[in-house]
Amino acid sequence: MELFKIFKKSVKIQGKSFLRWTGGKNWLAPTLNKLANKTQFKRYHEPFIGGGSVFFSLKTSKTSFISDSNKELINTYKAVKSNPKKIINILSSFEQSEEQYYFLRSKTFKNKFEKAARFIHLNKTSFNGIYRVNVKGEYNVPYGKKGYDLDLLSGLMYSASEQLKNVTIRESDFKDSLSEIKDGDLVYLDPPYTITHNNNGFIKYNEKLFSYEDQIDLCNFIREVRLKGAYYILSNAHHPEVEKVYNQFNDNIVSLTRASTISGLAKSRGKYKEYLFTNIEI
Ligand SMILES: C[S@@+](CC[C@H](N)C(=O)[O-])C[C@H]1O[C@@H](n2cnc3c(N)ncnc32)[C@H](O)[C@@H]1O
Repeated sequence: MELFKIFKKSVKIQGKSFLRWTGGKNWLAPTLNKLANKTQFKRYHEPFIGGGSVFFSLKTSKTSFISDSNKELINTYKAVKSNPKKIINILSSFEQSEEQYYFLRSKTFKNKFEKAARFIHLNKTSFNGIYRVNVKGEYNVPYGKKGYDLDLLSGLMYSASEQLKNVTIRESDFKDSLSEIKDGDLVYLDPPYTITHNNNGFIKYNEKLFSYEDQIDLCNFIREVRLKGAYYILSNAHHPEVEKVYNQFNDNIVSLTRASTISGLAKSRGKYKEYLFTNIEI
């Protein structure tokens, strides 16, 4: 009965991520799916996978490569791919409380499934699902007073595990994925936002997260992707500085509007624009 319940839920929720992610592109997924389906792409690459909302919504059975520089995140994807049941069992032993949150936040596990369960539990119950570490690399996001439905989460994890079957998962800098990309492949790029929304340009204090130089490197990465004969889609902040960096190739530039939920506070929610750059014919 229990298994049937989980199976039913996983059918319904196929194509959705099991994580919350700052800058997640759930809202953009239908547009990106339409764009991707205008091509007969051979293989799929996503080097800034984050919460994976675009990858999961694509539901592709083609050979895929996903990566991210976040070690804990990549361990979680690998663990979910290989044995979601093990993680669910561990999650079911965790209480959903503030005390449990801070206990897990300060605890280090050695086993990869315990590590993944800790990561998922903190992701689901932290303030806004933000991932942030201190100078020592320790996760330091406060408790968010939010709980989760373990049945629903289990369905999402079983479904993710299925979708990750033919997928190579790597902890790496985006530049390292270039060697895998071949003619006819599709690459979706979603780097962290390093632009302020009040028109001040690139965020200077955020240098370590994704600097201006990283944006230039990413533009050079796109140059190589194009030379290989692969398709790319880049989403990025709607800002003249961003346009200056990426408007190099005479490709398509699309402006999209989204409702921002970054701060989580209703009064500071607003409409922001986002850029898409792509060499796919629109
Ligand atoms: C905006 S998020 C991606 C969100 C994702 N598209 C989603 O829908 O959930 C950007 C991701 O890039 C990763 N990242 C930051 N710098 C990176 C780098 N140099 N190479 C690879 N990944 C990086 C971050 O860890 C983060 O997960």
